[in-house]
Amino acid sequence: MSRPFPTDDPYLNGNFAPWPMEGEVRDIEIEGEVPRELAGTLYRNGPNPQFAPRGRYHWFDGEGMIHAFRFENGRVDYRNRWVRTERFVREREAGEALFGGLANAGASDESVAGVSPNAANTNIVSHAGKLLALWEAGLPYELDPDTLETRGTWDFAGKLMRPLEPEAQEALGMEAMPGIMTAHPKFDPETGEMLFFGYSPIPPFLQYHVVDASGKLVRSMDIEVPFPSMVHDFITTRDHVIFPIFPAVFDLSRMETGDLPIVWEPDRGTHIGIMPRDGGPEDVVWLDSDPCYVFHPMNAYTDANRIVAEVCRHPVLPLFDTDGEGPPILTRWEIDLAGGTVKESALDDCPSEFPRLDERYAGLDYRHGYAAGSDRPDGETALPEAIVHFDLKTGKRMSHKLDPGCACGEPIFVPRSADAPEGDGFLLATVYRGETNRSEVVVLDAQNVADAPLARVKLPHRVPYGFHGNWRPAE
Ligand SMILES: [Fe+2]
Repeated sequence: MSRPFPTDDPYLNGNFAPWPMEGEVRDIEIEGEVPRELAGTLYRNGPNPQFAPRGRYHWFDGEGMIHAFRFENGRVDYRNRWVRTERFVREREAGEALFGGLANAGASDESVAGVSPNAANTNIVSHAGKLLALWEAGLPYELDPDTLETRGTWDFAGKLMRPLEPEAQEALGMEAMPGIMTAHPKFDPETGEMLFFGYSPIPPFLQYHVVDASGKLVRSMDIEVPFPSMVHDFITTRDHVIFPIFPAVFDLSRMETGDLPIVWEPDRGTHIGIMPRDGGPEDVVWLDSDPCYVFHPMNAYTDANRIVAEVCRHPVLPLFDTDGEGPPILTRWEIDLAGGTVKESALDDCPSEFPRLDERYAGLDYRHGYAAGSDRPDGETALPEAIVHFDLKTGKRMSHKLDPGCACGEPIFVPRSADAPEGDGFLLATVYRGETNRSEVVVLDAQNVADAPLARVKLPHRVPYGFHGNWRPAE
């Protein structure tokens, strides 16, 4: 039998512990009524290690498992499956973990030297007919939308490969390295384009890419950055691409001692790079701001000479034991393009993370935002206990407080119909219920989030806490 998982690691116990099975549940028990308008599939990705780790484990390390909830005529079917990454396949063959993690990359087995540790565990998106499981330091993996079968990596017909110098070609035995795609691409609702970046601790530190509505990668460029850093997400508007660079600085020398290769250096400040959508690297303007870390912006828009962005702002990158750490707070950035200034203002005093919106307004002036959070100003957000709706025009905050012992993930908005007004639709979130050790998908009326759920889709088992998901409408 395989080695047991450690019992003292918080990210491998409770509902962080991996779910060991793949399967299907037909016609899940539902409390309430699933609106008939919900026709499509909710996909959610998250880390789910197959085997006990080789030493230190970080939540970001586990291999991606997809949980898919298919909604049709008020009924819901479920299926879950690991993404068959090269890493997953190698480890399954070996019957043990072969890769070190974020904090101990040096612990990888010799047999996987040169194999990408791509865990495909962070997000799952659809674009131009493809369903892609995303990591943030490798290629996407394409999946079958119905069976969740892994079709393989997708390099945009070779366009996301990074050509190597002849010397490196010889040393590595390959002509090009797989390129890098963030787990947080942006989708332009007006053009149908997918915009994304890739970051790396080695040059080029940041690249930007544009994929047209048909799925063709049509533009790629290197962006010069103030320093190499961990860039989890970025922001786009109808007119601008915004690259926020926070002082989470790469230091690869730390890997030799088995430490995380990222150092929090607040003295370096935050740098926000702004590029016109139709511009190039030479057009990027950098504005300075106070040190902070943002994993996830909610949305942003350009209004003449101003960009307004709402982001979940952490005072300190929460990967370390650092002083002064506080919870993430929804914060507005008002960027004055003429004056070259960034004004920050907190929009809330309670924590929130995993911000989302009605995606039909991505990059456009918008009113409604949603997040997983808490109603307690002093609450840390290790486990979100409420689904929050922000009216960004009136400042009104409404929340759906979960039952005691429950915790939720990212709330995903689904419009009532393709042409429904902004915010008219449903919020879907995976909720873990401690008392039964099971998970459910709650369906809320997005215009009345404080109300009781319209439906609770009650899976007979739990879904571990995970990262991001998306809705794919039925065809
Ligand atoms: Fe993320």
